[in-house]
Amino acid sequence: MSNEKNTEKTQKHYLTSKEIKAIAKENSKVMKALEKKKYRKAVESEFVTTMKDDKNILEIEDLHTYFFTDQGVVKAVNGVSFNIPKNSTVGIVGESGCGKSVTSMSVMRLLQGPQGQIYSGSIRFKSEEFKRDAKGNPIPVFVKDENGADTQVQATSSSGAPLFEMEEKVLDIAEMPISEIHRIRGRQISMIFQEPMTSLNPVFTIGNQLDEVVFIHSPGATKEMAKKRSLEMLELVGIAAPERVYNSYPHELSGGMRQRVMISMALICDPRLIIADEPTTALDVTIQAQILDLLRDLKDRINGSIMLITHDLGIIAEMADYVVVMYAGRVIEQGTVSEIFHNPMHPYTIGLQKSKPTMDSDSDTLFNIPGNVPNPVNMPSHCYFKERCSKCIGKCSGDYPGMIQVSPTHYVACHLYGEEEKNG
Ligand SMILES: Nc1ncnc2c1ncn2[C@@H]1O[C@H](COP(=O)(O)OP(=O)(O)OP(=O)(O)O)[C@@H](O)[C@H]1O
Ligand code: SF4
Ligand SMILES: [Mg+2]
Repeated sequence: MSNEKNTEKTQKHYLTSKEIKAIAKENSKVMKALEKKKYRKAVESEFVTTMKDDKNILEIEDLHTYFFTDQGVVKAVNGVSFNIPKNSTVGIVGESGCGKSVTSMSVMRLLQGPQGQIYSGSIRFKSEEFKRDAKGNPIPVFVKDENGADTQVQATSSSGAPLFEMEEKVLDIAEMPISEIHRIRGRQISMIFQEPMTSLNPVFTIGNQLDEVVFIHSPGATKEMAKKRSLEMLELVGIAAPERVYNSYPHELSGGMRQRVMISMALICDPRLIIADEPTTALDVTIQAQILDLLRDLKDRINGSIMLITHDLGIIAEMADYVVVMYAGRVIEQGTVSEIFHNPMHPYTIGLQKSKPTMDSDSDTLFNIPGNVPNPVNMPSHCYFKERCSKCIGKCSGDYPGMIQVSPTHYVACHLYGEEEKNG
């Protein structure tokens, strides 16, 4: 009988009202403290920091992003660390629900509070912003004209808007109060979402929406300057009739065209980092190829970096320089694209590779990784992949495996690899 009771207890999938109340009380305490931190007034020194490696544009270190739900704390991102080097594309892969989007929403500080919160960790971003005077106003760039008088310099390349002095600062996005996020969001880090229709406002023309972004990010821009910049961006993303698209409403455009508009909107402020979350999933394969070509081309033109989230390994192989493989809120392997494709080490990454459809496969069924991800509210203390892994060893029932470095760029978190790999 007592055995039966124990089994019942371990298998139960419900919470008693007492347990729910206790969770709600604890959640409310933590959420209140985190919301207070988010909406605090802070001096810059609280979130200005330094990069660990100057070659990176973004460094995510031990990031924990949680959702405080009635069922308990969902540790959607549970100690994620990776870097995005300057002028590179980093692909983030992993199965549905592993925390890819939550990682990107943390970088953009777009998590829906009070439930969604960055709990701890750092997101260091190398920011380039307006140099400001004592009153906080941007300092214009002046040159002497032929009569020796100061004249303000205008941008020659695009809108012709006034130019301002710029300076570089490293900001810890996770520590910034939300009132300071406008300094980077949209201006220096922009995001391209999967479904452009949900990101464009159906009641305004494309022109209205693009111009508004120019106004927000270019102080002093006039209506004509904004339109010029918007048309230039539409042309840059390969739209042949920019004036027509400028005057159209979103519903008048095809899916591929709308995604191009979204990309042009993301590019208006010359971002240093573009986050593309499944940017081509809603498009057919030909348009998908065109959009990927466009992204690749633009990355070089704007001299920026791309964080590319996708579950499609083909896209990663084609686009990425580095790959980060996530599983259940953690990074389980990362390396260069060649390391991950030619020498995958973690059993999950090996399984992912095997589940890719190929033309020369003899089998008429696709390989799939059996089993499911553990309950995110109640993660085990051992490796999260254990219940699905065919290579399990004794150690796997112990602690969660630490990250092992197997080359200057290749890391894996799995007990199959130890000190030998670390030493080459
Ligand atoms: N608002 C929320 N409340 C509770 N849990 C959430 C919320 N948003 C996301 N999660 C949880 O966070 C985890 C990570 O979700 P995320 O959207 O980052 O997955 P993903 O890797 O982007 O998946 P997909 O490939 O399906 O887009 C999931 O377990 C999800 O259920
Ligand atoms: S640590 Fe063990 S269970 Fe986890 S992936 Fe490696 S071999 Fe499999
Ligand atoms: Mg997602």
